Amino acid sequence: MVKIYQTADYASMSRRAAHIIAAEVIRNPSCVLGLATGSTPVGAYKRLAEMVAEGDISFKNVKSVNLDEYKGLAPTHDQSYRYFMQDNLFNHVDIDVANTNVPDGLAADAEAECARYDALVESLGWADLQLLGLGRNGHIGFNEPDDHFTKETHVVDLTESTIDANARFFASADEVPRQALTMGVGCIMAARRVLLIASGADKADALYAAFCGPITPQCPASILQLHSDVVVVADEAALSKLTAAGVAVCK
Ligand code: F6R
Repeated sequence: MVKIYQTADYASMSRRAAHIIAAEVIRNPSCVLGLATGSTPVGAYKRLAEMVAEGDISFKNVKSVNLDEYKGLAPTHDQSYRYFMQDNLFNHVDIDVANTNVPDGLAADAEAECARYDALVESLGWADLQLLGLGRNGHIGFNEPDDHFTKETHVVDLTESTIDANARFFASADEVPRQALTMGVGCIMAARRVLLIASGADKADALYAAFCGPITPQCPASILQLHSDVVVVADEAALSKLTAAGVAVCK
């Protein structure tokens, strides 16, 4: 089941998403959070850090599992997803860094690292709440459009559209890694609850395809239609195509 919350803009989307994550942490202080990188969650992470600073929530016993990591980037590389998480969230909250997990982009045997990661997430009992951004091509994690869904954590070749979208963070598109390690849809669908966030008109087509289109690996996010507890928090621009089609949203 999918519940859609519409917010006015990025700032209110971020606050709403932060409140949903905070509620999970308050309900279960030792919850497992599935976390995402990218531009979309930055505002929510900032708000969560403020809530920790204000003494309203604590990440002391929280465990986290991130969706993905670029293959070949060291954790100290400023575009690695480990670096992003430290910089945007972990360094600003009271989480024990030993309880945070990101796939190892430097693993000599990437396939073995993927298997280790799946086993790890399973051993933690899967995510209680999995946060997702949405690619303009409908990707979740780095599960790119394909002719099949991949269940396990795997090494993926990034599409030109994703490389172009991420080139803004690198000196040039040539520097964007061509591969990544990503959770498959198995881990994502095993999360007890999924929170997908999206902002801006460039996500409108993907959001519409994900929740109003057919369930197809050509739009990986569409598999979320089969999940029993999905919350979408998105701003008016990102939801414009759904609302124009008459899909009911909560405000
Ligand atoms: C990041 C991730 C990606 C992003 C997606 C949207 O960990 O898994 O699926 O969520 O590419 O990125 P932004 O938020 O930058 O538009």
